[in-house]
Amino acid sequence: MSRYQRHVFVCINERPPDHPKGCCHAKGSAEIRDALKEELKKRGLAHVVRANNAGCLDACEYGVTMVVYPDGVWYGGVKKEDIEEIIDRTIINGEVIQRLLIPNGRYAPDALQFPKLRL
Ligand code: FES
Repeated sequence: MSRYQRHVFVCINERPPDHPKGCCHAKGSAEIRDALKEELKKRGLAHVVRANNAGCLDACEYGVTMVVYPDGVWYGGVKKEDIEEIIDRTIINGEVIQRLLIPNGRYAPDALQFPKLRL
């Protein structure tokens, strides 16, 4: 059985509508997580890439937030339409999509290119 090569954590944290920090759930993160899981399964990658629910990733103002490990690539403002590109470029090819990076050095990746997925 294959071992997971990447874990993708999608923040699905939900807060009350009047909470000053807002939340990723209100920006559609559950649908994004579902789309990610579905696409990974459709492409036969679910045995090597694990899509996980995450609680608050402490980057609320940039939501929907996700992080790809072990590469430590943090993306913000993720939309459902970005999922295929994230799978193609980041998850499979190890490439950072610069327009999705959270614009805060605290979340900067160590590199812009990581090892490709071994298929
Ligand atoms: S609510 Fe998603 S990062 Fe905090």
